[in-house]
Amino acid sequence: MKSVLLLCGMMMWAHSFADDLSAGRAKADAACALCHGPMGMAGLPGAPNLAGQPAIYVSEQLKNYRSGKRQHEVMSFIAKPLNDEEIVQLAAWYSGIKVTVETP
Ligand code: HEC
Repeated sequence: MKSVLLLCGMMMWAHSFADDLSAGRAKADAACALCHGPMGMAGLPGAPNLAGQPAIYVSEQLKNYRSGKRQHEVMSFIAKPLNDEEIVQLAAWYSGIKVTVETP
């Protein structure tokens, strides 16, 4: 019984993570891709790459911009209207993008 419950819990978690990721992608395409790139590799000089950043880091920064703890003329404005759910979704999307690195 315990393992069935655990499995259900895991399935619900997997389901909601996939939901967050796709909702985050749609939001990012609409509101973030112009500067941070469609796949989180920044297209604008001065904007950081977000692809592959840990979800906890992305959400922390967005909350910091929203609260004013971290300030930037563009990002403070962009993060202000985001709610916690949107932040989770955006963080799921950017952290879900796989990045490979090569030695220069
Ligand atoms: C008009 C360009 C622009 C748009 C649109 C934009 N950003 Fe940014 N973003 C920036 C710039 C520039 C920075 C660097 C700000 C700084 O120095 O603090 C930044 C920083 C960030 C950071 C911190 C990254 C780090 O390495 O600490 C996050 C997270 C972020 N943006 C998320 C988003 C999300 C999510 C959206 C869409 C809802 C978005 N941004 C839309 C330009 C933009």
